[in-house]
Amino acid sequence: MTRLAGKSALITGAGRGIGRHFAKTYAAEGARVAIGDIDFERARTAAAEIGDGAIALAMDVTSEDSIEAAVDATHDSFGGIDILINNAAVFTAAPLTEITRADYQQVFSINVAGTLFTMQAVARRMIKDGRKGKIINMASQAGRRGEPLVAVYCASKAAVISLTQSAGLNLIQHGINVNAIAPGVVDGEHWDGVDAFFAKYENKPEGQKKREVEAGVPFGRMATPQDLVGMAVFLASDEADYIVAQTYNVDGGQWMS
Ligand SMILES: NC(=O)c1ccc[n+]([C@@H]2O[C@H](COP(=O)([O-])OP(=O)(O)OC[C@H]3O[C@@H](n4cnc5c(N)ncnc54)[C@H](O)[C@@H]3O)[C@@H](O)[C@H]2O)c1
Repeated sequence: MTRLAGKSALITGAGRGIGRHFAKTYAAEGARVAIGDIDFERARTAAAEIGDGAIALAMDVTSEDSIEAAVDATHDSFGGIDILINNAAVFTAAPLTEITRADYQQVFSINVAGTLFTMQAVARRMIKDGRKGKIINMASQAGRRGEPLVAVYCASKAAVISLTQSAGLNLIQHGINVNAIAPGVVDGEHWDGVDAFFAKYENKPEGQKKREVEAGVPFGRMATPQDLVGMAVFLASDEADYIVAQTYNVDGGQWMS
């Protein structure tokens, strides 16, 4: 299918995991994709896997210069930007009494400020070009409620949901739709890190937390990145023109709101 034919997309943190799978799917749907990642080698490998129509960008979403350079490179390579997926994020966990300011600042500068200022740079470009567009932010079920060991990451994803609402309301006048996806638990390398935090703080053997979490998913298993692509393609397509400032749970039934 080519539901995104002729569109160009910038996806942050797309060197691995969910973003990488989104990039492959977008390319298969006819879009040209810029794969931005702080780990350029990952981005290069992901772009090479797609081949024609994909470019790799070294991009750090905590730096406005780096964001600007990535937006310019996407624009110049493809003649414009139609879609942004704010996907780059990091996870952290600790009991409240052990959270450090450095950890908090790192998570908020990537997950929250990175999302805000990449939205801003892309929206400015879309408005300048007189081009309508779609922005998709990656939230999380973690943004729907707190968790005992995950205060900082949960708060960062609640902020992504809130930013999606305000940006969506502000940018729709320019024909830019801002929406978000809130996945539940998605298998991949990200989860090795999550599991390690719980092994440390809950004193569980490695892999046990992941098995427990999987057992709690109403659908009966963790998601794969493929489970999210339907929503990611839909929200980027013309079919979603009337959808504004929403966050959609794609989580196998874990959260209802
Ligand atoms: N995996 C899950 O269970 C899950 C659940 C809910 C939400 N999410 C969200 O989905 C998105 C993708 O998750 P994932 O599991 O693929 O994560 P991941 O950790 O596998 O990939 C994240 C990518 O972001 C990149 N990155 C980190 N810091 C960056 C920076 N400063 N600038 C640019 N790139 C940077 C990393 O290099 C990495 O390639 C994230 O926003 C995450 O919070 C994931």
